[in-house]
Formats: sequence, C-alpha cells, structure tokens
Amino acid sequence: MRIDIITVLPELLKSPFDASILKRAIDKDLVSVHFHNLRDYSTNNYKTVDDYQFGGGAGMVMMIEPIDKCIRKLKAQRNYDEVIYMTPDGVTLDQGIANSLSLYKNLIILCGHYKGVDQRVRDLFVTKEISIGDYVLSGGELGAAVLCDAIIRLIPGVLNDETSALTDSFQDDLLAPPVYTRPADYKGHKVPEILLSGNFPKIEQWREEQAFQRTKERRPDLLDKNNL
Ligand code: ADE
Repeated sequence: MRIDIITVLPELLKSPFDASILKRAIDKDLVSVHFHNLRDYSTNNYKTVDDYQFGGGAGMVMMIEPIDKCIRKLKAQRNYDEVIYMTPDGVTLDQGIANSLSLYKNLIILCGHYKGVDQRVRDLFVTKEISIGDYVLSGGELGAAVLCDAIIRLIPGVLNDETSALTDSFQDDLLAPPVYTRPADYKGHKVPEILLSGNFPKIEQWREEQAFQRTKERRPDLLDKNNL
C-alpha cells in the first residue's frame, strides 16, 4: 500500500511513522507513506495556502489551487482508490472503515486546517470524508495519523501474530475480553483460574462470555447494532 498525505505541517505527522508497528511496516515495504507539504504548491511568493472566506467571518480557508496542483501531480503518476479528507463533519471512523481501506493500494489523505478547505476541493477531488470523533482538532494531521495506524496494522504481515488483529476490540462488534500476564498472583490479586487450566476450548468460551459481558456493560449500542 502507498499513502500520500497532503499537509501544511508534515513535521507534526512524521514521528508516529518512525516507531513501533508503523515503522516496521514501512521497513518491511508493506506500506510507504509520503508527505507533501502544501506550501510547496503555493502560487505566491509568501508560500501562503489559505485566504479570507468569501462572505466574511472569522477563520481562514485553504485555497483550491495548491491542493489542485498537488493532487493532479499525484494522480498523473498512479491511480488512487480514494482521496480522503480529514474533517470533523465526515463519517466517523470505525473498524469497518479501517478494514475496507486496508484492502486498497493507493490512498491520498488531505489534512484540513483553519476553517477547512474551499468547498470546491471537496466537490471536485475528495471521495471520502472521515472524522475521528465528535470533537474539533486544530487540524487533520493527528486524525490522519490515527487513520493510518488503524489501517496499516491490518495489512497482512504487519502484525507479528496475524491472529491478533482478529481478536481486537470491534472486529466482531464486540469489545476485547480482559487479558493477563505473569505473575499469576500479584499481592493476592489472582488471574482467573480458567486461564491457567490449559483447557483451550473452555478458555475460548470464557473469553467470548467476557467480551459479551464487557460489551453489554460498556457499549450496548454495539450489540443492538447486530441484534446480539
Ligand atoms: N480535523 C479537525 N477535527 C477533526 C476530527 N475530529 N477528525 C478528523 N479531522 C479533523
């Protein structure tokens, strides 16, 4: 997979890709991530990419021309499956969206800033608008990092234990069950006996029950969604 990220703040975005699972995915050539500084596509000497909004009102708007130039250049080199715009008024990211995006080959992610982008950018170039939650961030960069993390860890070969993504919270619209590691007894606080039993069918059944119980307590909406 190749991901091209268009941003006015590439430096804000780079560090998440420089550690742990994302770095390993890049080192293993399972994904490549490319940053494009929108200012490099500015058409004026001051390298500005935003302007006052028509009709008045506080806040600057990102101009269409630098974005058009950048996206056009990328699209001339390869086909893209989606041009994603990070925005609080997009569809809320969930595991289903991450799963489907992880199957694609080439993605563009456009990070908004200030009041966002000129509506014509959305009308002409954007194919999917994604929010990472009902709160407003200073820009789309952190949202883009969250989105990339959620997608990249699902690419086959990225996680060491292939099954571990399958047992994540949300994969079956259930939250994950509790997990424990050594010691089995910490100052009198014991690990549930069943996990030490070696009876794997019983352990699996216990995990399913715990996942269901936890989902029922914390996120009953997930159960309603699937009539569980
Ligand atoms: N940009 C600003 N707020 C955002 C959000 N909640 N999700 C994605 N991009 C954003």
